[in-house]
Amino acid sequence: YVERTLAIVKPDAIHKSEEIEDIILRSGFAILQKRRVHLTPEQASDFYAEHYGKMFFPSLVAYMSSGPVLAIVIARDQAISYWRELIGPTNALKARQTHPDCLRAVYGTDDQRNALHGSDSFSSSEKEIRFFFPDSVIEPVPVGQ
Ligand code: CMP
Repeated sequence: YVERTLAIVKPDAIHKSEEIEDIILRSGFAILQKRRVHLTPEQASDFYAEHYGKMFFPSLVAYMSSGPVLAIVIARDQAISYWRELIGPTNALKARQTHPDCLRAVYGTDDQRNALHGSDSFSSSEKEIRFFFPDSVIEPVPVGQ
């Protein structure tokens, strides 16, 4: 069934965002919404609140607020798992060994500067979409007419 997820082109890959949007479309996704934003450190901390306290948290916040990102709501059947498969493992260095065709292997650098984000579950996708698109109205599917 068709579902939505949030993709983020991170600051280290923003110069490739047109190329990445083409790949998204060619991979069977529809692009529903997109927004280019330069997050403040506070906004980046809020977005990654679940990682608060981890050793890499301060540098993750600095990285994600170092330049603009492109937040994209994408949809297709099994969008959440398919997008995560397409971007590949978190660590772009390791991804280059094990999944050389994945997007993080192509566009990322290491375990932090990994070019792309994908929501990891239905509940995080809904929360993360609302973070970047707080005003968007979800149209109800008409029933029984
Ligand atoms: P992402 O999938 O957006 O979710 C959390 C982010 O934290 C991750 O991508 C990386 O950018 C970063 N990250 C995860 N693990 C590490 C790590 N071990 N060291 C540095 N950054 C990390």
